[in-house]
Amino acid sequence: MKKNIAVLPGDGIGPEVTAEAIKVLNAVAHRFGHQFEYSEAQVGAAAIDACGNPFPKETQQTCERADAVLFGAIGDPKYDNDPNAKVRPEQGLLRMRKELGLFCNIRPVKSYRALESASPLKAEIIRDVDFVVFRELTGGIYFGQPRGRSEDGSAAFDSMVYTKQEITRIARLAFEAASLRRGKVTLVDKANVLASSRLWRETVREFAGQHYPEVKVEYMFIDNAAMQMIQNPRAFDVVLTGNMFGDILTDEASVITGSLGLLPSASVGNSVGLYEPIHGSYPQAAGKNIANPSAAILSAAMLLETSFGLTEEAETIRSAVEQAVEEGFVTKDINAEKYYGTSEVGDRIAKGTESASVLV
Ligand code: IPM
Ligand code: MN
Repeated sequence: MKKNIAVLPGDGIGPEVTAEAIKVLNAVAHRFGHQFEYSEAQVGAAAIDACGNPFPKETQQTCERADAVLFGAIGDPKYDNDPNAKVRPEQGLLRMRKELGLFCNIRPVKSYRALESASPLKAEIIRDVDFVVFRELTGGIYFGQPRGRSEDGSAAFDSMVYTKQEITRIARLAFEAASLRRGKVTLVDKANVLASSRLWRETVREFAGQHYPEVKVEYMFIDNAAMQMIQNPRAFDVVLTGNMFGDILTDEASVITGSLGLLPSASVGNSVGLYEPIHGSYPQAAGKNIANPSAAILSAAMLLETSFGLTEEAETIRSAVEQAVEEGFVTKDINAEKYYGTSEVGDRIAKGTESASVLV
C-alpha cells in the first residue's frame, strides 16, 4: 500500500514523540511491504513564530492532500501567561479541527495489567477496563457564538450551542461502534441544567430508538460520570459526550491507564482523519528526551486501522507497545526509578513492531 501522511509535529514535546511514531510507521512499512511518504507542515506556536498564523493555509492544504494526518501537540507557556495575546497556538488546533471537518474525536481507554501499580487507583478497580469516549469536537462551548467580552470589559461570555444535526452525526458513529463492542452507549451531559444537554438527550433517544434499538442507552450527568469513571470504570463501553465534557473526562480517564502519556486519539469527520495523543505539549519536558512516545505511537496505530484499514499492522504496533510496557521498557512518567529515554522507548517499540508475532 502506498500512502501519503501529513505530519504536524507542533510544539513542546510534539516533535519528539512524533519522530518516534514515524520510526514505528517505518517499521510497519518495512515489515508489511508498504510505502509511506511524509509531508511535514507547521502548526501552533511553531507556525506563529514562522509566519504569524497558527494554522497556515499551506498546512491546511498539506492535510487536505494527504491520506491521513499525524499530529503531535500544540501549546506554549509564553501565550498561556499573556491573556492579551491576540493570536494563540490553540486557535490553530481548533481551526484545524473545524476546517478539516473533524467533528468526532475517539479516545479509547484501556488498562494495562503491567501498569496497575502506576495508577493511583486500586488494581481491582482498573483491571480490564476497556471503554472508548466519543467526544464531539467542532461544536459546543468551544465554538458557540456569541462569545467575548462586554463593551466595558467587566463581563465575559461563551455559548454552548448544539444543533440536532451535529448531535446525530456523532451519535451515528458512537452507536455503530457500540454495536460492534459490548452494545452500550452512555450519554454524558448536564441535562438537569443545560438546554443544549436536553437537546442531546432528546436527539440521542430518538436516534437510538430508530436505528439501534438493540444498543442499551444510559444517560448520566457529567458530575456523576466523573465519579463513576473512577469508582467503576468497567461499567463503561462507549461514552458519548460534547466537546468540553469530553475534554475533561478523558484527562480524568487517563489516570486509569497509569499515564496521560499512553492515550491516543483519532479525529474523524468529513474527509481526512487526524491522529493525535491526548496529552498536550508538556513544555517542561520538551527537548529532554523524557516524554512518553506511546500515545503518539498508538495514535499512529489508530491511523493505520481507521484511515487505511490496516488492522493487523495496528495490532502489531499495539502488541509491541504492550510488550515494552511489560518488560519495563518505559519512560519516567511510568516508572520514576527505572526508566528509558523517549527515543530508546521508540527504538524498542519499532524493533518490537518488526518482530512481534500477532494473532488477529
Ligand atoms: C485536547 C486539548 C485541547 C482541547 C486544547 C489544547 C485546546 O486539551 O485536545 O484535549 O481542549 O481540545
Ligand atoms: Mn484536553
